[in-house]
Amino acid sequence: MLFDTHAHLDSPKFDNDREEMITRAKEAGVGALVNIGFNRETIPTTIALAERYDFIYAAVGWHPTDAVDMRLEEDLAWIASLCAHPKVVAIGEIGLDYYWDTSPKDVQHTVFREQIRLAKRVNKPIVIHNRDAHEDIVRILREEGAAEVGGIMHCFSGSWETAKQCLDMNFYISFGGPVTFKNARVPKEVLSRIPLDRLLIETDAPYLTPHPFRGKRNESSYVRFVADAAAEITGLSRKKIEEITSRNAYACFRLEEKPLTIDEK
Ligand code: NI
Repeated sequence: MLFDTHAHLDSPKFDNDREEMITRAKEAGVGALVNIGFNRETIPTTIALAERYDFIYAAVGWHPTDAVDMRLEEDLAWIASLCAHPKVVAIGEIGLDYYWDTSPKDVQHTVFREQIRLAKRVNKPIVIHNRDAHEDIVRILREEGAAEVGGIMHCFSGSWETAKQCLDMNFYISFGGPVTFKNARVPKEVLSRIPLDRLLIETDAPYLTPHPFRGKRNESSYVRFVADAAAEITGLSRKKIEEITSRNAYACFRLEEKPLTIDEK
């Protein structure tokens, strides 16, 4: 089975065909996925999705591009209370985004640090969003002692050196659509060096669509193309990649592995 560790299936881009898209994911072999709620709007819709489908879990956190909109104390308390929900498996996505200039760096840093501290208090792994901020991400994770909870470097796009620093802090490295692109020399090389017990796959649907649907809307069933790419890069069978990445995801999110149920409510 495939485990899509990062998706946004509550996105309005699926409003016309969400049920069909989720059925396609199950038919493609997606046995579990984590939907990511990252701000005031998407946290409730993510929880609703996780409550509706057995095989969908939730991560909740505050995205760096929305950092300016966070009412720090109040929203941290909200996220903390949601961590008691049985389907909430992680805090995220959190991190730094220096590409979209929507929140000042110092605000992003505060929001990021506070959520790492929260994750340590509630003992949940963290899902990291990193755009053009490798150095500060690694520095803050280290300064805040994030190794205590670990988590996922989502849609990893950095160098092997950065990956190594994250591995040393108990993080899993997750790859998405970009690793399927023919010209993705660095991501392919980095993937080939990740210890197999730290490798994860994801879609980030509806974003970051893999080859051969690049440019179109992404969906969770396309995680199979990421699995195929990982198989090709590592020289392992697609089945082995599915086994390894699913086992890793269950371990990372501290979930009991359970057999795929055919009928979801
Ligand atoms: Ni995302």
